[in-house]
Amino acid sequence: MIKKRSISSYRWLSEHFRDPYVRKTHQKNLRSRSWFKLHDIDVKYHLFRTGMNVIDLGSSPGGWSEYAIKHVGKTGSVTSCDMNAMNKISGVFFLQGDISKKIIFNALLNHIQYKKINLVMSDMSPKITGISYTDMSNAFDLFNLAFKIAKITLSNKGIFLIKLFHGEEFENYLHNMYDFFNTIRICKPSSSRSRSKEVFLLAKKKKI
Ligand SMILES: C[S@@+](CC[C@H](N)C(=O)[O-])C[C@H]1O[C@@H](n2cnc3c(N)ncnc32)[C@H](O)[C@@H]1O
Repeated sequence: MIKKRSISSYRWLSEHFRDPYVRKTHQKNLRSRSWFKLHDIDVKYHLFRTGMNVIDLGSSPGGWSEYAIKHVGKTGSVTSCDMNAMNKISGVFFLQGDISKKIIFNALLNHIQYKKINLVMSDMSPKITGISYTDMSNAFDLFNLAFKIAKITLSNKGIFLIKLFHGEEFENYLHNMYDFFNTIRICKPSSSRSRSKEVFLLAKKKKI
């Protein structure tokens, strides 16, 4: 049976094929279009230095991890986690599983044990159900989880980068982050689709 496409899926496909970043992703042989978002934020805010230890949450297919390991070099480390599989990236430690599950959460903490973490970044997004209340609530559960991991693992001068969606909980989330960090920037890289509700929060200077 031939399935009919919805208007929104036609619109998505047409946007996708006209998108210059999709073309560039193929030209540069990158794992994901998301690579450009991290690149844009890094160019503006200089996130990476050689030797940094990085946690990448929601890492698959690996665009951000690939970018990170290239910039932290052999003296640094990248620990990545995703519930989906991810093809191997040399130098990156990958943990497959749902980070909301205690066993995966503990495995991640176990792996980084004594490392001073300089950057926690999360590009996690939940599976979209189409029911806006459920999607937002699932997304904010993930944000809270990433924030919890950042609070536990980040060194005093560490940086927390997280993708968030504008919604009812946005202001609350920002407010909670200000309890923990002195500086928070809201970034919308040019590679992030203007129609998308996603923004990135870049938090620095832990309140000690
Ligand atoms: C937008 S993609 C990440 C793209 C990635 N940053 C890149 O550059 O290739 C979002 C990812 O979040 C992951 N994710 C969502 N919920 C998760 C969870 N509870 N635990 C681990 N990963 C999760 C999804 O499996 C998905 O691969």
